[in-house]
Amino acid sequence: MGRFYENAAFDVRTREMFPFELKGDCLAEAFGDWKSHPGFLAHGSTLHGFHNRLRAAVDLFADEAGKEVLAFDEEALPHWQLLNYGQQIVDVAHSHHHAEDHVYFPRYLAAFPQLERPLSLLDGDHKVLDESLDALEASVKALKPGATLHGWERSRDAAEQLQQIIHRHLDDEEEIVMPVLINRYEG
Ligand SMILES: [Fe+2]
Ligand SMILES: [Fe+2]
Repeated sequence: MGRFYENAAFDVRTREMFPFELKGDCLAEAFGDWKSHPGFLAHGSTLHGFHNRLRAAVDLFADEAGKEVLAFDEEALPHWQLLNYGQQIVDVAHSHHHAEDHVYFPRYLAAFPQLERPLSLLDGDHKVLDESLDALEASVKALKPGATLHGWERSRDAAEQLQQIIHRHLDDEEEIVMPVLINRYEG
């Protein structure tokens, strides 16, 4: 992560909105209104749907781990299912970031060099997300049938931290990437 990212207004753990300073570097078309753009259905909705499933999966895991902490057993998913679910979130998120970092973002940058700083922001986010996903994975691996309350608390806390940063990341990534996709870039 470069010095660029070492700023509370950019770091995904601390920023509260899309960095205003980067808006001018992004493609102006459809910025902020890409869902109603005619190109969204054809070019952006697949990625948007994937992001929504990832958001929902992290929310659900955080909720379910919270139920375990509060011992709402009758409403909770079976433990084995919850553990598989947590590992699946980790695996799917890592492979998505890998494809973005090594395949898609370099293509977007080659086509639109003005995206250098916005794409660096997303690259910095992915490094923070990797740490958060590692923490979730370690907590899930430590959970065995009959796990202690402390084990579930660790998992819930890791999921809540991931929840906070992944929502910020996905929202901001869409503001940067959707106009690229809508502009019918097909690299
Ligand atoms: Fe991403
Ligand atoms: Fe993404």
